[in-house]
Amino acid sequence: MHLGKVMVVFGTRPEAIKMAPVIKELKKVADIETRVVVTAQHREMLDQVLQLFGIVPDYDLDLMKEKQDLYSITTGVLSGLKDIMQSERPDLVLVHGDTTTTFAAALAAFYERVPVGHVEAGLRTRNKYSPYPEEMNRSLTGRLAELHFAPTDVSRENLLAESVASFKIWVTGNTVIDALMETVAEGYQFGEALDKLNFEHRIILVTTHRRENWGDHMRDIYAALLQLADEFEDVEIVFPVHRNPTVKDLAEEMLGGRERIHLLDPLEYQAFANLMNASYIVMTDSGGLQEEAPSLGKPVLVLRDTTERPEAIQAGTVQLVGTAQGKVYEAARRLLVDRGLYNQMAHAVNPYGDGQASVRIVRVIKDFLYVRIGAANYK
Ligand code: UD1
Ligand code: UDP
Repeated sequence: MHLGKVMVVFGTRPEAIKMAPVIKELKKVADIETRVVVTAQHREMLDQVLQLFGIVPDYDLDLMKEKQDLYSITTGVLSGLKDIMQSERPDLVLVHGDTTTTFAAALAAFYERVPVGHVEAGLRTRNKYSPYPEEMNRSLTGRLAELHFAPTDVSRENLLAESVASFKIWVTGNTVIDALMETVAEGYQFGEALDKLNFEHRIILVTTHRRENWGDHMRDIYAALLQLADEFEDVEIVFPVHRNPTVKDLAEEMLGGRERIHLLDPLEYQAFANLMNASYIVMTDSGGLQEEAPSLGKPVLVLRDTTERPEAIQAGTVQLVGTAQGKVYEAARRLLVDRGLYNQMAHAVNPYGDGQASVRIVRVIKDFLYVRIGAANYK
């Protein structure tokens, strides 16, 4: 029986990584027609993931522009999706997380009266400007959504506190763990991009990109990295730099050509995830890494003032350190010199899932479409 059409819309690297397992599961269900639409708010970083997971989009809005702003992404997604929504008439639009693509796609679906399923729903800092604009993107998407796939009980509670009906929320785990489990392999052979790295040394893996950290906060973080690289001769700092010119230019200006600091192009996911597995410490302002690294037993220092992912902090593998140079330096230094403290943090915890999140999500979608058909026939 034909159950209906599900349109999956995403635009950035993390959305693609976290939606890839869901698309794979959806495509196993012959009764569901799946359409994949990429806004390409990211380009090369998105294409790396599409290629790795063998995803061929049905539509590609190809929106990315150099140094794009929030207005151009929002309006580009809205106007780009209008014709596609109207010609495809999906029964459900699936979006992920908290990017501007996520919010604008949910809004476009609402304009067409198409129900929205929100994967990775219910994460909150309750600070409108941190992370910016993600906190509002995901809250507003939550207002528009019909099905909320919350990764943990904490995110479920956040939704309940906003009066989302409990029967519209499913705790599924986070699909990033599904992707990670498929990707990390013992004995993985790193390619050319990492051949200058001395794997005998302790590796600190770094990523930064958050808008609220642009400028002085990032300068502070990079100054702390310089101090660490100067002080610890058995440490290598590996920093695959986000393509955003605001991040890239500053990283090159402050960290380029420095001993024991490797600035790399964005790594494709397989190499990156396996590098994380080979690292000693992860320092990041990313969301996804706060979920992946704990499940690999890697201590994470979060270079932000807030986090919407408190679960691994409670479990003791993640520490929220902020961006002040002294604090970032000191948190990393302590982990490097204090083996006991390191061992306390370096244990694998999995508050974010068991690798079956996509299976659960697709099961709910099947039920949802089935009930919709029943309701339509009943009318
Ligand atoms: C975006 C999301 C953020 C998400 C992050 C993941 C918004 C507003 N921001 O932030 O929520 O956490 O992605 O990485 O939705 N660029 C390239 N090539 C690429 C990707 C980006 O050159 O493949 C450059 C372009 O100049 C682009 C700029 O980076 O204009 C910024 O991209 P954008 O998607 O606006 O913001 P991110 O900082 O990547
Ligand atoms: N990642 C990657 N290559 C890199 C850096 C990160 O594949 O060079 C992956 C990482 O494993 C995680 C995701 O990209 O799954 C995180 O993306 P990002 O930090 O851009 O976004 P956020 O998670 O903050 O939304």
